Amino acid sequence: MGVARFALCKISSSLLPRMHRPSALRQMSVAADLKNSTIFRSQGLIGGRWVAAHDGKTLQVNNPSTGEIIADVPFMGRRETNDAISSAYEALNSWSKLTATERSKCLRKWYDLIMSHKEELGQLITLEQGKPLKEALGEVSYGASFIEFFAEEAKRVYGDIIPATLADRRLFVLKQPVGVVGAITPWNFPLAMITRKVGPALACGCTAVVKPSELTPLTALAAAELALQAGIPPGVLNVVMGNAPDIGDALLASPQVRKITFTGSTAVGKKLMAGAAGTVKRISLELGGNAPCIVFDDADLDVAVKGVLAAKFRNSGQTCVCANRVIVHEGIYEKFAEAFSKAVQNLQVGDGFTEGVVQGPLINEAAVQKVESFLQDALSKGAKVILGGKRHSLGMTFYEPTIVTDVKTDMLLAREEVFGPVAPLLRFKTEEEAIRIANDTNAGLAAYIFTSNVQRTWRVSEALEYGLVGVNEGIISTEVAPFGGVKQSGLGREGSKYGIDEYLELKYVCLGDMNRK
Ligand code: SIN
Repeated sequence: MGVARFALCKISSSLLPRMHRPSALRQMSVAADLKNSTIFRSQGLIGGRWVAAHDGKTLQVNNPSTGEIIADVPFMGRRETNDAISSAYEALNSWSKLTATERSKCLRKWYDLIMSHKEELGQLITLEQGKPLKEALGEVSYGASFIEFFAEEAKRVYGDIIPATLADRRLFVLKQPVGVVGAITPWNFPLAMITRKVGPALACGCTAVVKPSELTPLTALAAAELALQAGIPPGVLNVVMGNAPDIGDALLASPQVRKITFTGSTAVGKKLMAGAAGTVKRISLELGGNAPCIVFDDADLDVAVKGVLAAKFRNSGQTCVCANRVIVHEGIYEKFAEAFSKAVQNLQVGDGFTEGVVQGPLINEAAVQKVESFLQDALSKGAKVILGGKRHSLGMTFYEPTIVTDVKTDMLLAREEVFGPVAPLLRFKTEEEAIRIANDTNAGLAAYIFTSNVQRTWRVSEALEYGLVGVNEGIISTEVAPFGGVKQSGLGREGSKYGIDEYLELKYVCLGDMNRK
């Protein structure tokens, strides 16, 4: 197990940045333990076999908290992707012909194995993604919940009988798996974004080629190892990583791949959508957001502060549903800013393995530079930093939790997703204005409102052009509810009873000549 090269100890501990030394040492021992665990894998999975890239090329996986190399994984491309597609295609026939109960049992076993390896998977997520261990463990439960849910849903893929228009006919609608699915997933949830796609796909009889982010492939590989241990047959789940454009192109070009599912940036989503046209594939996209968080003057201030804090600073601001614009009624603007500041200044920043830390590093230097450029743009147009506003003294990609006031709608902070720990505070006067500001974006994933008025809750929820709305709550994602956006935030829904439809084709069958004996 865990056969590939594990290169964590390349840096001697005396060379580690001073402030990181204790936690870096802790991480080295965590990583060494993981190396010996039964879930650690650092090769691609094709047709049930763990394989290197055909030319032996590798890529390094880094710990964003310390910069250390955790492992080398294969740098794969078109060739390996085509092999993976062939394996998935071969496995499709037998997997789709199993009974729903048989597939359900495999998925349930996978869920049980993920949960019994929760600690190791959580550690792996913290090591390669940086989020605090407690949050990483939360992601494991969240990720596993999709497998459990769809193990159950597998048994509820009902068709229909349609009352016929002619007496000698019978009309049926069958639901059948779409076929081989290409799933391209991001680094911010190295496990949950995979299970949210692969769970429903496998449940209804599809097979899959997964391309995890090159920044966080180890969690995906560990999850795939557990899928094999659960008895999911070889070829049903394949994992390739490396040259993202080449892998994406191979998935798009193959007529055997009948569906692409993607979570990531809007720019890449648009390219995939265009590319899928060549073979007219089904596509579902979960793309960027620009979530408004409207705090009305009738809101309970404590509830609003707690909710905005959670919606903004989860995963250090690196989720598509993170509050991107906090739009506060002018009557409570100062009071809210003060209370929110008090709460944000208590957020402990640091390495994800350190007790009490709730804000880990950003994923990489580019992410920090993006935050800096957005902030610079806002400051140059008159915004003010009331908390944070710079890189954290811990160095690396740590950034101070930041609050910016006097933000206007023309600033980058209000127009685009910052994907970092910066909360921009905008002002509004009337409910109509708040709705107009909230909807003034091409994005439409998540929105949040804080109010104690029931009528307003309904009115504003209906008026918001978003796929998800949280009322007096900052964390609303769950496996049982549909997740997905409108406008340029994407197509389709994940999770819930609706999520499985993305992997099913409807087939109408007309049976004629019923009167023949
Ligand atoms: C995402 O950031 O894309 C997913 C967030 C979630 O599932 O809550």
